[in-house]
Amino acid sequence: MAKQKTAAMIRAEAAKAVEAVLAGRSMDAALAAVSDDVPLRDRGLVSVMVYGCIRNHWQLQAVVQSLLQKPIKNRDRIISTLLAIGVYQMQSMRIPDHAVVSATVEAARRLRHPQHAGLVNAVLRNYRRQGEPDLQKASGEVRHNHPAWLLKRLQTDWPENWQQIVAENNEQAPMWLRVNAMQSTPEQYVATLAEHGIESSVEETLPQAVRLATPVLVEDLPGFYVGAVSVQDGAAQIPAAWLDARPGMRVLDACAAPGGKTAHLLELAANDLDLIAIDNDPARLERVQENLDRLSLAATLVAGDAKNPQEWWDGRPFDRILIDAPCSATGVIRRHPDIKLLRQDTDIAVLAALQGEILQKLWPLLAPGGRLLYVTCSVLEQENDAVVEAFVRRNPDAAQHKELRNYNIHDVMQPRRTGYQILPGMKGLDGFFYACFDKP
Ligand SMILES: C[S@@+](CC[C@H](N)C(=O)[O-])C[C@H]1O[C@@H](n2cnc3c(N)ncnc32)[C@H](O)[C@@H]1O
Repeated sequence: MAKQKTAAMIRAEAAKAVEAVLAGRSMDAALAAVSDDVPLRDRGLVSVMVYGCIRNHWQLQAVVQSLLQKPIKNRDRIISTLLAIGVYQMQSMRIPDHAVVSATVEAARRLRHPQHAGLVNAVLRNYRRQGEPDLQKASGEVRHNHPAWLLKRLQTDWPENWQQIVAENNEQAPMWLRVNAMQSTPEQYVATLAEHGIESSVEETLPQAVRLATPVLVEDLPGFYVGAVSVQDGAAQIPAAWLDARPGMRVLDACAAPGGKTAHLLELAANDLDLIAIDNDPARLERVQENLDRLSLAATLVAGDAKNPQEWWDGRPFDRILIDAPCSATGVIRRHPDIKLLRQDTDIAVLAALQGEILQKLWPLLAPGGRLLYVTCSVLEQENDAVVEAFVRRNPDAAQHKELRNYNIHDVMQPRRTGYQILPGMKGLDGFFYACFDKP
C-alpha cells in the first residue's frame, strides 16, 4: 500500500515539476521544489521522468493528443502533462505497463483531479493497445522535439549539420570530469575510479579530462570533497588551456559563476594567479567560493557587472581575460532540455547586444601582449560570429589567435568566420564557440 502511494506521488510530483517548467521556471528550480515526502531513493526516478518529458515534450504531447477524443481544457493541463509522463514511462522506462497505468491513474487523484482518473486509465490503456501513432507527417517541432524558431535558426546557421545537432540535443550527455592537475593525472584517476567499480576513460586530446561510461553521483567520486576532480564537460575545459595563464599573471574571469573555468585556470597555474572573478549574480558567486574552497584555490570574487568596469576595476590591466558570456545555452540542450521551452527567439538579439557590450567594454582592460578569449555555449551565429565580427570591426588591433597548444582538438572544431565551434555531441562534447584574440 505504502509502495503504491509512493509510486503515485512520484508521478504527481513529476507532473508538477514539468508544469512549473511549462510556466517558465527552470528545470533545476522545479526539481529542487519536489516534495520532501518523496523518499531520497526515488528522487532520481522523478528526475528521469521530468527530463524525459521535457526533452520529448512536442512528441509526447502529439501522442497524447492523438489518443484523446476531445482536447483537455486549459485549466486541466496538468492532466495532459501527467499523460505525457505515463506515455514516456511506457516508451522509454523499464516499468511494466500495468504498474505505469495504476500509478499514473492514482497520481491524477493525488493531483486532486479524481474526475480525470477514468480518462487517464482509458488513454494509457489505449496507448498500450495501439502503440505509437505515425508522426511522419507531423510538424517539424513534433518530429524533432524542438521549437519552430530554434529549428529555423539551426537550419539557417548550420544547413549541413542541423539534423545532427537536433538529434544530439535530444540525447543524454555523458558525464565528464576534470582531474585537478595539482593532485593527479587522468590516467591515475581512471585507475582510482576502476578500484571503486566506476568505468571511465581518458580523452587523449583533452589533458585533464576523464569521461565516465555512466553518470554517477558526485558523492560517489573518490576524493571529490578534497578537490581531486570537478564535474565539467570536455568542451568547457578548453578555455582555460587556450588562455594559457602562467603563474604570477593578472587574470580577469568576467562571467565566472559557478566557477568551473575559474578553478581550471588556477589549477593550471598552481594556484598562483592574481585572479579577479566577476559575476553579476551574488547568489551564483557563492557557488564559485564553494568550488574554490573544495579545491583549496584562491581568487578575488567581485559581484559586479562585466559591462561596467568603472564599478569594480582598479585600473591595473590584465594579462588574460576570459569572457564566458551569458548566452542562449543552445549548445548544452542535452544537459538542459528546458532551454527548448524557456528560451524565445527574441532573447537572442538581447543576449547578442549584451555579449557585444561586454566584449567591447573589457578589451581596453587587456594589457599589450595580453590574450582575451570570448566563449559561449551557443550554436547560434548571432551570438557567436556576428558578435565577434562587430567587435573586430571596431577594434582592428585585435589579432585572432588560432593556436591551441597541447590540445589536438582541431578535428572536432569547425573553423567559423572569426572563431571555432564544437557542435553538441561531437566526441561526446557540449556545443561551444571560442574566439581568441591577442593584443599586440
Ligand atoms: C556561461 S555562465 C558562466 C559559467 C562559468 N564561467 C563557469 O565556467 O562555471 C555566464 C555567467 O554570466 C553571468 N552574467 C550575466 N550577465 C552578466 C553581467 N552583465 N556581468 C557579469 N556577469 C554576468 C551569469 O550570472 C552567469 O553566471
